[in-house]
Amino acid sequence: MGNAPPAALEEVVIRRAAPDDIDGIISVNIECLPEHYPIRFWLEHIERYGDAFYVAEVGSRIIAYVMPRVEFGFAKLGTGMRRLGHIVSIAVRRAFRRRGIATVLMTASMESLKNEYGVQEVYLEVRVSNEPAINLYKKLGFTIVERIRNYYLDGEDAYVMAKEL
Ligand code: ACO
Ligand code: ZN
Repeated sequence: MGNAPPAALEEVVIRRAAPDDIDGIISVNIECLPEHYPIRFWLEHIERYGDAFYVAEVGSRIIAYVMPRVEFGFAKLGTGMRRLGHIVSIAVRRAFRRRGIATVLMTASMESLKNEYGVQEVYLEVRVSNEPAINLYKKLGFTIVERIRNYYLDGEDAYVMAKEL
């Protein structure tokens, strides 16, 4: 008795993001990814696409997020112009990985992109070396549609991956 329960026994709550979550979301982003954004950018996404922006919380601590946006542009998979869901950023704190949290966040966000925003197709960019993320997206039904040379600031290439909703 008296010891904190191991992480695996703590309850993970998945819910939509709110403006008050910004500090927690940014701290997850800084721990997990080299791509960072100004606070205004995060807030705009919560304000505009908040029905599809999800966080995972343990106690009152944010441990993961998925930040999408909605765009109108050329289809990556279908033809012509379409309403596209763009997964801008997703991350799960190290201690909570490999427990299905990213899968639940992505699934919830894609459901909302489809049902609340009328999105027909979802896409994202991912580092060609990011095997965990590429595997996650493949498992969710994404396919690689393009490779963008020099996409990241350090010169690494990106795969564009997309999925019909
Ligand atoms: N190695 C290989 N495959 C993996 C790994 C890994 N380390 N992690 C996840 N996967 C694959 C597996 O197929 C896994 O299914 P399985 O556990 O049944 O084998 C599947 O993804 C689902 O895994 P989850 O548990 O749902 O994923 P998790 O919650 O661990 O989060 C994530 C995955 C988001 C990629 C996490 O590792 C992370 O935060 N990484 C750092 C940040 C990052 O790379 N974000 C994505 C950048 S691209 C973008 O944001 C658009
Ligand atoms: Zn992007």
